[in-house]
Amino acid sequence: MRKYTEQWDDLKSRCAHVLQTNQPRAEVLKKLPFVYTCPAREQGAYLPQWLWDSCFHAMSYRWTDPETGWNELQSLFVHQVTEGPEKGMIPHMAHLDENHAEADQSLFQQKNRSVFTQPPLVAAAVIAVYEKSPEKTILESLFPKIMAYHRWFENRRDPENNGLSAIIHPWESGWDASQRWDSILGLRDNSEKALKILAEKRKSMVRTILEKQCDAKKLAASGEFYVKPVDFNAIRAADLEALSQIAAILNKPESVIKSLNSRAEKIRRAIREHMLEERGGRLTACDLAGAEQKKSPRESAAKFILLYGKCVSGDQARLLRDELEDSAGRFSPSYRVPTTPTDDSRFNGKEYWRGNIWLSVNWLIYKGLRSYGYNREAVRLAENSLDLVEKSGFCEFFDPVSGQSGMKFGKKCPQNYGWSTIVLDMLGDCIGDC
Ligand code: GLC
Repeated sequence: MRKYTEQWDDLKSRCAHVLQTNQPRAEVLKKLPFVYTCPAREQGAYLPQWLWDSCFHAMSYRWTDPETGWNELQSLFVHQVTEGPEKGMIPHMAHLDENHAEADQSLFQQKNRSVFTQPPLVAAAVIAVYEKSPEKTILESLFPKIMAYHRWFENRRDPENNGLSAIIHPWESGWDASQRWDSILGLRDNSEKALKILAEKRKSMVRTILEKQCDAKKLAASGEFYVKPVDFNAIRAADLEALSQIAAILNKPESVIKSLNSRAEKIRRAIREHMLEERGGRLTACDLAGAEQKKSPRESAAKFILLYGKCVSGDQARLLRDELEDSAGRFSPSYRVPTTPTDDSRFNGKEYWRGNIWLSVNWLIYKGLRSYGYNREAVRLAENSLDLVEKSGFCEFFDPVSGQSGMKFGKKCPQNYGWSTIVLDMLGDCIGDC
């Protein structure tokens, strides 16, 4: 780690450069109320704003330019839904119109935004930026909006009222093409052709969602994609806790703070009750699929994100740590952490979400290890993430076997990707504390 701590200033300026070069073009910027950062501009495909990407961007900006970090986060609320049944929802993609994103506009039948969300780590990002730049007025203005967002989950995405939130499209998970969704979507084989058909299906699913007014209950009842994912819910528990910290900073009534924490606890309890299994000395975590909430047996790195949400007991955390640290194990090819384990019959470390490393996911696991006091393990994961950037640059995602850039249908993924700068937050955290 020493090697990297000595390179702190250099890494900071490289990350600042990646983020800065991904800001929208001047003609777009002048139409925006706040500056945001495109995930990547190089292939012209990632020009709008994406929800969880921006949370990661903000957590990198906090080290280089916190003011832009605040802009990034404020921009997320510009197209938050303010009325109707979806009131409170923050869209996973926004600012479509300024970017002339016509295909997306016609897909979502909306001028400016998509019709569903992404993993909710917005309160966590807000607190992280606030730590470096304590702007109480901005915090105060965002608080009711984040409250409305979390209420929306409870009103619209938990018809069973068991504390767990459902997603209605794989895009909401952020793990778009993961094997986790294969059997639910009826993917029979792992060929490029089948994966391409599935990519088209993800688009056509949007039409059905619109026909059912984005109503999770109706979608579940008619057998459409309806899943309560492990990691998404762990992230939401952590976010409610972060929101309670915001409430405390703003001197909100004790009852508000308490209720936020108890909502986070409800999620944690539900995860332990419905999703976890211990088998052969390993902890398995299952997504729950369909109206019957059937446990999906497919293993993935999502279970390590339970640490981020503080969702497991100390003993269960140890099992996760042991599996993660097992150098001969299925989550440890040359680099870590592949989102799909290497013993999955459909593992493919090169192809988009079929077993790659995403530094956003590594950051969630890093933070989780730290929450349980596994500091040395966290530092090792940070180091491994920095090794990837040193070897291959700021790729969108990486092949865990070669450490090189990942591929999407035979094409290299973008190489100047915003959220891969999240290594800066890991390194900053290590320097501050380890
Ligand atoms: C891809 C990823 C998603 C991410 C988006 C923008 O769709 O699967 O998680 O938010 O790109 O980077």
